[in-house]
Amino acid sequence: MTATEISAGAAPDAGDHATRPVVAVVLVAAGSGQRLGYGMPKARVPLGGEPILMHALRGIVASGVAQQVCVALPPDDGALRRMCDDFTSELADGGPLLTIVDGGATRTESVRSALAALEEGTQAVLVHDAARALTPESVFHRVVDSLAAGALAVIPVIPVVDTVKTVEATSDEDARIAPEVVVGTAPREKLRAVQTPQGFDLETLMKAHREAAGFDEAQAAAITDDAMLVERLGVPVHAVRGASQSLKITTPLDLIIAEGLLEGPLGARWVEG
Ligand code: CTP
Ligand code: MG
Repeated sequence: MTATEISAGAAPDAGDHATRPVVAVVLVAAGSGQRLGYGMPKARVPLGGEPILMHALRGIVASGVAQQVCVALPPDDGALRRMCDDFTSELADGGPLLTIVDGGATRTESVRSALAALEEGTQAVLVHDAARALTPESVFHRVVDSLAAGALAVIPVIPVVDTVKTVEATSDEDARIAPEVVVGTAPREKLRAVQTPQGFDLETLMKAHREAAGFDEAQAAAITDDAMLVERLGVPVHAVRGASQSLKITTPLDLIIAEGLLEGPLGARWVEG
């Protein structure tokens, strides 16, 4: 699909954004949260008194970008399912359709399950990690603006503050000196840390996932985001500014930072990264 086609079926309620594509958000929330170590799926872990999933859902709805939100949940998690059902009844008329699917064993499989449940007529999709529960509305808008302007793929990024090196395991004879040895230093000014929501023309992302369906185990394990799959098609992936409060809550330290953002004097969604 071309950029013009994306714009052709503008959402009727788009107001001053008359050329918005029809957007669905895929929210992947089916992970087990091993590194957070709460003994429960990460989506259920409390943050500022509410489960992480609820922060993520509210952020998406507040942005107003989506006609549909399709959430991938851990299969058989009744508590998260009920939470979504309750949230549906909170949504005002004209709010997005909320769909729930069973997530898979990997993030990629969870994305795939959700893509299969998108409504007819969806033109663009934003794939978002529930773990990035505090993503500000402005990031959703920048991603959708870029899609509306013609991007087939767009990701939010932030500059990398650390110097990043590639390493290899040391040879047997050097193993007593250190476990790894540096083989290169990437130029930092060209490096970006990648966040979500990642936005795609729907057909483009579907094609990228179809091509990845035949991956062997090692290739599948190396997929850490959706943009990687689209890059393999040779489709340009554009980058817009992300936000530091879009951090992926992964470790206990991240949860402390997220709590701090929520308690901050400005409130999390106002602290622009
Ligand atoms: N995810 C998913 N299905 C999976 C694995 C991950 O939907 N099988 C989602 C997570 O719920 C999360 C996002 O993908 O919102 C990013 O994954 P990550 O931060 O790694 O979360 P977890 O896999 O839950 O954490 P961990 O790797 O520590 O177990
Ligand atoms: Mg994981």
